[in-house]
Amino acid sequence: MKLTEAEQAMLQGRHGPAAQKAMRILEALGTIYGAQSSVAVTSVQVAGVSFDNLGEAGLQFLSEMAEGGARARVLTTLNPAGMDIENPGSLGIDPLFAANQRRVIAAFARMGIQTTCTCTPYLVGNRPACGEHIAWAESSAVCYANSVLGARTNREGGPSALAAAITGRTPHYGLHLDENRRPNLSVIVRARLQGTVDFGALGQIIGKTLEGAGGKRLAYLIFETPPENLETEGLKSLCASLATYGGAGLFHIEGVTPEAGLYRPPQECLVVEPAHLAGARQELSDATPDEVDFISLGCPHLTLAEIGAIAARLEGRRVQRQFWITAARPVKRQADALGYSAIIEASGAKFATDTCCVVAPIRGRFHALATDSAKACYYAAAKNRFKTLFLSFADVIELALQPRAEVGA
Ligand code: F3S
Repeated sequence: MKLTEAEQAMLQGRHGPAAQKAMRILEALGTIYGAQSSVAVTSVQVAGVSFDNLGEAGLQFLSEMAEGGARARVLTTLNPAGMDIENPGSLGIDPLFAANQRRVIAAFARMGIQTTCTCTPYLVGNRPACGEHIAWAESSAVCYANSVLGARTNREGGPSALAAAITGRTPHYGLHLDENRRPNLSVIVRARLQGTVDFGALGQIIGKTLEGAGGKRLAYLIFETPPENLETEGLKSLCASLATYGGAGLFHIEGVTPEAGLYRPPQECLVVEPAHLAGARQELSDATPDEVDFISLGCPHLTLAEIGAIAARLEGRRVQRQFWITAARPVKRQADALGYSAIIEASGAKFATDTCCVVAPIRGRFHALATDSAKACYYAAAKNRFKTLFLSFADVIELALQPRAEVGA
């Protein structure tokens, strides 16, 4: 990869040891992927924030970078942490874990990074415009940035995203290039999607097809009947699922993706019928309603409208099972101001702000998760060994309100 003078200076250590380490990471990445040069980025999203994933070695790396003079040159936000930063005790987080998680957040803060702790940075001010080059490391947000906003990012790892933040650069390859953004698989959706659960199911179906093709297919979606909720809520669910099951960083939706109009629908075609969606929903459910002892909404993190919808359904009622509402801190604050949070908390449901049911250290605490998120189902099983029940947004809330014994009766 050809380096600019400024990049050479960083590589030679003239901007300190942290910038040197960051430039080494980017040069190695660029060489592996055959990048000719780097490109300036306007925004970064760093993943690998939960101490549950980082461990002591990860924390050590971050501390060394902060001490080595690392400073973010562009707007940089953080993925969810392993706990609610302001209230870890309410989620039963161990005090030692909480102390380590705070050290992680402090290291990021020393680097000038916004400690937002959300996988939906585009809801809290880190929202790049169409055509901007960025370096994001949260798979669902990467998919959203490329496919909905029309920005350009590869699926970065935690270290390479941090390196991009420190240098303001990223290797110019992959989804930064026009030729790698061209779709080659039409997906005709004959089913009428209703709500986040159907978007997640669709993502699982397409994702598995893409994975079966070795990641060489880029989907172009055509909805024969316009879905309900082809807005932020449905799209973030679809992005999370497609990224999880198919490793996709980009897809096009006719009429949604800013650059979709540049292409004709590819000839090779996958048709999704209502029965496929029903099959995916079944495949992601191996728990009975009575087995569910843990319920979570907010994967990816909730919009204010979704929190409002939860409040409307919980008002004056009591939940009967552990129920986590996961959202970004700034969105939670808006919910506070609108009175939604008070209604939700009065029901016994808990906000798990800054975190989520996947990155929090909860393995062994629960047996079965109910959620509307296909991504959460995947990681609940793979990471935490939970059984799962994949339901619509409304049905998840109704289940939370029912005592377990009665559900099984
Ligand atoms: Fe976000 Fe956690 Fe889901 S990071 S996308 S809520 S697994």
